[in-house]
Amino acid sequence: MKTNQERIEKLRADRMLDREDFRALLTGLSPEEEALLYKEARSVREEIYGKEVYLRGLVEFSSYCRNDCYYCGLRRSNPACQRYRLTKEEILDCAKKGYDLGFRTIVLQSGEDPWYTDEKICDIVSAIRKQQPDCAITLSIGEKSRESYLRYFEAGADRYLLRHETASGEHYALLHPPELSCENRKRCLRDLKEIGYQTGCGIMVGSPGQTTDHLIEDLFFMKEFGPQMIGIGPFIPHKDTPFRNRKGGSLEDTLHLLAIIRLMLPYVLLPATTALGTIDPWGREKGLLAGANVVMPNLSPVSVRGKYMLYDGKICTGEEAAECRGCLERRIEQTGYRTVVSRGADSGLIFP
Ligand code: 5AD
Ligand code: FES
Repeated sequence: MKTNQERIEKLRADRMLDREDFRALLTGLSPEEEALLYKEARSVREEIYGKEVYLRGLVEFSSYCRNDCYYCGLRRSNPACQRYRLTKEEILDCAKKGYDLGFRTIVLQSGEDPWYTDEKICDIVSAIRKQQPDCAITLSIGEKSRESYLRYFEAGADRYLLRHETASGEHYALLHPPELSCENRKRCLRDLKEIGYQTGCGIMVGSPGQTTDHLIEDLFFMKEFGPQMIGIGPFIPHKDTPFRNRKGGSLEDTLHLLAIIRLMLPYVLLPATTALGTIDPWGREKGLLAGANVVMPNLSPVSVRGKYMLYDGKICTGEEAAECRGCLERRIEQTGYRTVVSRGADSGLIFP
């Protein structure tokens, strides 16, 4: 029988564990073992990334969504969601403001909104590419055909975020209506990677119906897929969705997973997410101290921020949030890390 300390050391050395060892780490850590797990995760991240935290500027450009995921406040069946679309000019303006603040990665995120045809997306991407040739452009706009992904790539997009949400088909079906499938989600991820995007997958921690077995399956999927980025944050119920009364994911479970992922995939770009900052006032900072190395401040116009409500209580949506970057920078300094605004970790340079 191994101890958890031995499992943590084995995970660091081998970058992988078997199912039962993962189960032990995911279900029963003492406070001392938890501290060791975070310490090892920090040590691995510092070997590779030093004390640097990468900043990505997030522009949430449309709150319209054709999908009906049971967990998400933007789902099409939520009439209470305030819908908005940013124009190309407004998006370019956000990108420019981000550039002037020092951001060299811009993330364009939206619901799945067919109003933005491939032509429009390509037009926006190439305009940003032209305006800011030294920036990485990340898209996070959902499931598309391989041809569409290829077109965006050719227009100048470099990176794509698409959380797989869960690697288990059966769990996927608990979170999504029947027209959405885990297979298609994974097909999208494979296409993105093959096309040459730096690709991000990810999950919500503590989503309804999620079991430890599902989490283990997610870890195996991540290891096998080998993404450049992994976005994970706690599930947080939204009052206008079918999951309004379900329990949210916990801070501890999220931090454990961040640390395990850091040990399993040492080079991965791992954001301390807004959702984590929403369930705990120092959640993002705690995430950084558990192995995360990216934060994504909001660059959307303040007038629309309160309308992009994936879950209840989302932070940084008020007037006071007009300057997320300064606020975050000051907070992050207190962890002993420091923010950098470079493109950060382009594949080939740093990914073995
Ligand atoms: N709680 C936490 N995260 C959520 N997301 C969507 N709805 C919620 C929620 N209620 C996450 C999903 C999605 C990403 C953009 O936001 O994982 O992929
Ligand atoms: Fe956005 Fe503080 S990080 S207001």
